[in-house]
Amino acid sequence: MTDARPMEKLRSDEAVGGAGLDSHAAVSGRRSTARRQRSNRARRAKNGLAGSFSRIAKLSYGEASTGNALIQGENLRVLDTLQRGYAGRIRCVYIDPPYNNQERYRHYRDTRSHEAWLDMMVARLLAIRPLLAKDGSLWISIDDREIHYLKVAADEIFGRENFVTTVVWQQRTTRENRKVFSNNHEYLLVYAIDQREFRARRNPLPAGPELLARYQNPDSDPRGPWQSVSANVQAGHGTASQFYDLVAPSGKVHRPPSGRCWVYTKEKMRREIAAGNIWFGKTGQGVPRIKRFLNSSKVGLTPETLWPASEVGTNDEAKKQLLRLFPDEGVFDTPKPEGLIGRVIEIATEPGDLVLDAFLGSGTTTAVAHKLNRRYIGIELGQHAVTYCAARLRRVVNGDATGISNHIGWKGGGGFDFYRALG
Ligand SMILES: C[S@@+](CC[C@H](N)C(=O)[O-])C[C@H]1O[C@@H](n2cnc3c(N)ncnc32)[C@H](O)[C@@H]1O
Repeated sequence: MTDARPMEKLRSDEAVGGAGLDSHAAVSGRRSTARRQRSNRARRAKNGLAGSFSRIAKLSYGEASTGNALIQGENLRVLDTLQRGYAGRIRCVYIDPPYNNQERYRHYRDTRSHEAWLDMMVARLLAIRPLLAKDGSLWISIDDREIHYLKVAADEIFGRENFVTTVVWQQRTTRENRKVFSNNHEYLLVYAIDQREFRARRNPLPAGPELLARYQNPDSDPRGPWQSVSANVQAGHGTASQFYDLVAPSGKVHRPPSGRCWVYTKEKMRREIAAGNIWFGKTGQGVPRIKRFLNSSKVGLTPETLWPASEVGTNDEAKKQLLRLFPDEGVFDTPKPEGLIGRVIEIATEPGDLVLDAFLGSGTTTAVAHKLNRRYIGIELGQHAVTYCAARLRRVVNGDATGISNHIGWKGGGGFDFYRALG
């Protein structure tokens, strides 16, 4: 059952008429066209994706109106349509395009010329960029056949200054003896819309026990565990207001060490002492230090650029997960492990943020985004949008126990809508 108008109708609605009318009729024609456009815009805004694509009720599942969407269609056309309602709203785009390795997989072909492949990618990157929020990022999976050409093209679109890094992912752990070199890694190219925004907002990886052990609560502070950091900085960075005698509540006078000044001005230091944010040791006689609370800081590890299989999984593990989920479907040849996509999403987004994947394949990104409580849009052209992506998400809603589920304690819930954008 479809319950919305197809995309083409909306396009033709936008054409502005009026040629050949007399001036009065032309004005009233323009007015009615403007009214029609306003009402179309209002209807599309009200209906969201259902205003632009055909919602397929029998393939949608679970809780209604979550905003989570699977869209079966050609991604460039879909991305084009999304510009209307989603410009600047997507926090993270992950894409895993065909790598142009001249293979014919069971579910799609990967046999373009180099030029056609690069043109295809450039068109999609140009369409993705305006959708990203100002603190958003784009992550592209790729291997070494096209990475260097793709990097140059993406630099031009996102700006070299917004290139964040290249992650190396260990995609297999066994040796491939038939090849000259056993190719055991792939890459993720990472771009920000604005490098500074991304730097300020990106999440660290969860802190391990060693890091957490540094946070304690020797004064039973009701705000919870904390660690202390230095209250003085290099004098070269300070202003005159940061050089003063600091009088502790005990009455003891402290001076910054030679070549250093206090991190705060005298007035701010007074306020911080009054707020209980400065630690003078158990006796109150120690050197002042700043209390950093576990609750209020982004405590964690800076992500490294080498992502080993032991941490994020392999291509083979991802295939085995899909075989467990869909023993009767033909195997999907190129899935990513949920651990890999989970790490991308956890670094780049917060719960509730919107994630987009325009080459959805077997649906890994939407399954992981759902489990991690992010909102999402996944686009896939092939029939596996139904046989894999929608079927997989139904299992996720029902509490699927594979992939990252055990690690994050996934129990099920939520829902998604399935749309078609086929011509
Ligand atoms: C490498 S696979 C993605 C695998 C995915 N990351 C996963 O974990 O399963 C690439 C996918 O892009 C899809 N695709 C290729 N061209 C497309 C297009 N123009 N529009 C939408 N999907 C496309 C293919 O059908 C294929 O499923």
